[in-house]
Amino acid sequence: MTANQRSFQRTTGCGQVTGSQVNTTIHLAGWVHRRRDHGGLIFIDLRDRTGMMQLVFNPSINEQLHEQAQHLRNEFVISVSGQVVARPPATVNDQLPTGNWELIVENLTILNRAKALPFSLDEGEGVDEELRLKYRYLDLRRLDMQEKLKLRNNITFAMREFFQTEGFYEIETPILTKNTAEGAREFIVPSRLHQGWVYSLPQSPQLYKQILMAAGMEKYFQIARCFRDEDLRADRQPEFTQLDIEMSFIDEKDIQYIIEKLLAHIWKKIFNKELAIPFPRMAYDDAMHLYGSDKPDQRFGMHIHDLSAVFADTQLKFLRQTLDTNGKIGALVVPNKQFTRSELDSWVAKAQQLGAQGLLWFRFDEAGNCESPVAKFLPADFFDRVRSVVPSLSKHDTIFVIAGEYETAWTLLGRMRLEFGKALDLIPQDILHFCWIVDFPLLEYSPDDKRYVSKHHPFTSPKGEWQTQDPKDIKARAYDIVLNGIELGGGSIRIHDHNVQMEAFKLLGLSADEMASHFGFLLEAQELGFPPHGGIALGLDRFVMLLTKSESIRDVIAFPKTSKGFDLMMNAPSPIDPKKLRDYGLQIKPKT
Ligand code: AMO
Repeated sequence: MTANQRSFQRTTGCGQVTGSQVNTTIHLAGWVHRRRDHGGLIFIDLRDRTGMMQLVFNPSINEQLHEQAQHLRNEFVISVSGQVVARPPATVNDQLPTGNWELIVENLTILNRAKALPFSLDEGEGVDEELRLKYRYLDLRRLDMQEKLKLRNNITFAMREFFQTEGFYEIETPILTKNTAEGAREFIVPSRLHQGWVYSLPQSPQLYKQILMAAGMEKYFQIARCFRDEDLRADRQPEFTQLDIEMSFIDEKDIQYIIEKLLAHIWKKIFNKELAIPFPRMAYDDAMHLYGSDKPDQRFGMHIHDLSAVFADTQLKFLRQTLDTNGKIGALVVPNKQFTRSELDSWVAKAQQLGAQGLLWFRFDEAGNCESPVAKFLPADFFDRVRSVVPSLSKHDTIFVIAGEYETAWTLLGRMRLEFGKALDLIPQDILHFCWIVDFPLLEYSPDDKRYVSKHHPFTSPKGEWQTQDPKDIKARAYDIVLNGIELGGGSIRIHDHNVQMEAFKLLGLSADEMASHFGFLLEAQELGFPPHGGIALGLDRFVMLLTKSESIRDVIAFPKTSKGFDLMMNAPSPIDPKKLRDYGLQIKPKT
């Protein structure tokens, strides 16, 4: 064979065969998806990344080929050629794009064999996820996994296309870097050349992209890998990808507009649909008040209601105490739903499981009498009192109440709202609801650290008359974009003024030494002509997860880690040879 010759030919993809190829000879290559022997004929579903095509081996046309085909097993890699013919009408498969045709095989080459697989590709999602991750290359052979990665590729391509036409530069920033102080725990990489010292893997390219603005790049984007050593959940991975953006000479609205325009471009390009922009905006305080969350799922209603006034004269001990200590009484009204006693008990248990001390419930009979564990302590006009706050209240509704410190109670109610939404099927699955959450607090108090910490990060610009405000009341020029109750992205207008940055660091309790050692380069850059700037980062994995209706971001990442942070295919992390450790001046202490 010369260098240019191959042992097989391929003229088209299995899923790309069309009627125009009937009576022509084509060459296919792919995996044996399934073999069926039928009355002397052997049928093979041949699969490649474009789809499936049915092959036929007919002993009366070629006995030797038919004999070879008997040895084919699932996942053998083969190449074939032959004539495309129309299937007999009774055997047409409407479910398959190529289901009208079949290939009468004239040549067969086995390119590679396969042993019995550890799981059948047809079982798909039903297979234990750890097994799927161990044999990720088999899992990824499944067409629906291939579709997800293909969509991800199409999205990133559309992003690059958009940013190119908008005049952005795609710029890579380092992976070996220093802590960016974004809140999560970081992964560290020991240095061999500088023993005892470490690099950090970036939690995001935050400071580099700001410095790129100081460098006059004006419009930057990057599809950036980020690393965070935090506890994992279905929408979190220790390494994940952000679409990272930064722009100079802009304000909040410019960043929000560029994101809306980008998403509209993706919708048009990928789904050929118009996306309704601009997205609604909601202040953080309103989101917390109505939904008990800064990432409200607005595909359904069922807001939280403040019933503190309804109970103003209550003598119920727990509620009285709550009100007397500046707490609040919040309620969810589940419309038109009568729960059984055991269902009510399990909702109380659910609330306790989420951390609530209790969950009070109230329901009514036709006369408006209230039934509740605390019914005898309620005023006679309780129904009317509640209706003055919840005008839509009907006697067929059930009210659930949590009382406590405002933020704690409302956060629990927000979580219960989602639980009710899921359990009672109140969340429409075919809607994508985008929303901007704005006017975040700049700081939040950390009881563990006994100081304020940044709600976003320390480089976020404070808003309005912040110098004269109590730290807890200062608002930030920050915004999040939320899709169906998931935080898709977040960003802010940054501090570009040296003195404001120093003040912001002081609010976080940083000493002059800490400022200089961690952020000296930033503070210096801010004195050397730093333009006003801001940006945002979208979680690419989360975005693709939502668009593909996947359960977990693991399904849209080619090689994800398990929920315990393991790469089961490569077996990482793994112990290190002590000899190698010596090069880094490191020694592992035995586990205690
Ligand atoms: P933030 O920390 O909000 O902002 O991150 C931006 C977005 O990244 C996604 N994300 C994650 N996705 C998967 N796994 C994780 N562990 C994970 N953590 C975050 C989320 C989130 O909204 N530098 C700032 C952005 C800026 O200010 O421009 C930042 O990283 O979708």
